[in-house]
Amino acid sequence: MICIERLEDLRRQVADWRRTGERILFVPTMGNLHEGHLKLVREAKGYRGRRVVSIFVNPMQFGAGEDLASYPRTLTADRALLEGLGNDLLFIPAEETIYPGGQAGHTEVRVPDLSEDLCGTYRPGHFTGVATVVCKLFNMVRPDVAFFGEKDFQQLMVIRRMVADLAMPVEIIGVATEREPSGLAMSSRNQYMNEAERRLAPRLYQELQALAEALGRGDDDYPALELMAKLRLDEAGFRPDYVSIRRAEDLCLPVRGEPHLVVLAAARLGKTRLIDNLRVERGGPGIATPAATF
Ligand code: PAF
Repeated sequence: MICIERLEDLRRQVADWRRTGERILFVPTMGNLHEGHLKLVREAKGYRGRRVVSIFVNPMQFGAGEDLASYPRTLTADRALLEGLGNDLLFIPAEETIYPGGQAGHTEVRVPDLSEDLCGTYRPGHFTGVATVVCKLFNMVRPDVAFFGEKDFQQLMVIRRMVADLAMPVEIIGVATEREPSGLAMSSRNQYMNEAERRLAPRLYQELQALAEALGRGDDDYPALELMAKLRLDEAGFRPDYVSIRRAEDLCLPVRGEPHLVVLAAARLGKTRLIDNLRVERGGPGIATPAATF
C-alpha cells in the first residue's frame, strides 16, 4: 500500500492511475478503523478501480468541549488493517494541508436546513465542518465513487445534497451499518464507555427496533411513538437528545402512511454520545406487508 502525506504526491499518483484508465474509489475516515470502516473498504473492492482511504481527524467538525483532543488516533494499527485488505493508497494529510491558513476564515461549505436539524441542533457547525472537509478531500482525491456508512445517516444525506447541489462528479454509495453481536452500531466512540455503559448501550438499537415494529404494524402517531421511546431511554439511564421518525429520502417530517421511513436517535450514556438509525419499509395505505430493514 502506498502511503502519502503530501498533496503533490497524491495528485501525481492519482493522475498516473487516471492516465491508465483506472477509476478512483474513495473512503474518507478519521482513522481508528473498526469493522464498520473495513466494510466500506471491502465494499469498494466490488467496484473496478483503485482504492484510496484517507485518515484525517477534522478539527472543523468538532465543537467546543467535544472530544477532538481525546479522539483515538491509531495510525500504526489502521495502516496494518488497510494493508491486510489490499488497499491501494492511504492519504494522511497534515492539518496544514487541509487548512493551510488555519481554520479561521477558511471557505466553508454549508448545506442549509439539513445541517441544522437533528444532530445539527445539538452540534452546531458540525455538518458544515463535515461538508467542508469532504468537499476538500474530493477536490484532492478526485474520486469517481465515494463510500460512507449509513450509521451516520444524516451525514450521508448532507453529503448527497452537497454533491447534487454543487454538481460534483462523484457517485455516493451508502453502506449498511456494521453492528456488534449485541446490535450496538460500531463506532470509534464506543471505546469511551465503561463496562456498565457497554451493557446498556445496545438498548438504543432495541428501542429503534421497537419503533420500527410499531410503525410496521401501522401505528402512525409519530410524536407519541417518539416521546415514549425517549422516555424509555431516559428511564433506562440514557440522556436522549432526540428520537425522530423521518422520511428516509430527505429526512423531512413524514405524512401519515409514509412508506419509506427512517428512525433516528442520539443519546448520551455517561460521556459518550451514541447515534443510530433504522430504516423502515412499509406497504402503502393499509400497510399490508410491514418490513423493517436493518
Ligand atoms: O464519518 C467520518 O468519519 C467523518 O465525518 C468524515 C466523513 C471522514 C469527514 O471527516
